[in-house]
Amino acid sequence: MSLSLTSLLHVTGLVKRFGGFHALDGLSFHAAAGEILGLVGPNGSGKTTSINVISGLYAPDGGNVTLDGVSIGGIASHKLVHLGVNRTFQIPKPFLSLTVRENIAVALAYGRAQVAPPTAEALMDEYRLTEVADRPASELNNAQQKMLDLVRALATRPRLLLLDELAAGLNPTELDWISARIKALAQTGMAIIVVEHLMGFIEQITDRVIVMNAGKEIFEGKLAVAVKVPQVIEVFLGGEHAA
Ligand SMILES: Nc1ncnc2c1ncn2[C@@H]1O[C@H](COP(=O)(O)OP(=O)(O)O)[C@@H](O)[C@H]1O
Ligand SMILES: [Mg+2]
Repeated sequence: MSLSLTSLLHVTGLVKRFGGFHALDGLSFHAAAGEILGLVGPNGSGKTTSINVISGLYAPDGGNVTLDGVSIGGIASHKLVHLGVNRTFQIPKPFLSLTVRENIAVALAYGRAQVAPPTAEALMDEYRLTEVADRPASELNNAQQKMLDLVRALATRPRLLLLDELAAGLNPTELDWISARIKALAQTGMAIIVVEHLMGFIEQITDRVIVMNAGKEIFEGKLAVAVKVPQVIEVFLGGEHAA
């Protein structure tokens, strides 16, 4: 499958250093509109750092990131939100003292201007936050905080959505439900990158996966194929995610 030419996102030779340590060491991959791409790999392989660089939290130390052919590497995250790139956090970061509705209002006001905003009510209804609409975000449970983080990102109308362990800690019913939601979002043409350790979840929702190790991609393709590749097996069995 060659989605490369029509891809929305191209990451080429991306490097991110922390001191002398290369958290990203020449990472390359692409993602197309409407595609759900899984980013998997052992702890410390650079998944969150990839999201942090692509979403503008960190500037890259080398390589390129392009969105629709336009170089976006090093553009700050608040500007990237306006270009249609947003993400969720492995540990959600809502404004804790603001209510759920206020958190969403901030994101709605901040989003991509070219696209008509959804209403806070519709988003809260769709992501099961209506009953906590007027509670401060600090009072939400883990699943609700994750949904608020997702809604906050969606409120900005992204073309590229990066999800960092959104499913971690959700129960099986919640996992099935959120899988369906993510697939529906992709069907609207959004490119979605999903970082997750739960392989069943990855298998259920992704079109393709990138397997990372030590800041590089070591496999690109279907998960069903990845799990038969010796180098991939070695990376997973050698790490802490043998299950
Ligand atoms: N801000 C940072 N400062 C120093 N080292 C970092 C920082 N962020 C990530 N790292 C290091 O980079 C490596 C990759 O981390 P990360 O991208 O969080 O991995 P993953 O999400 O795949 O578990 C790890 O060794 C981590 O300790
Ligand atoms: Mg991570």
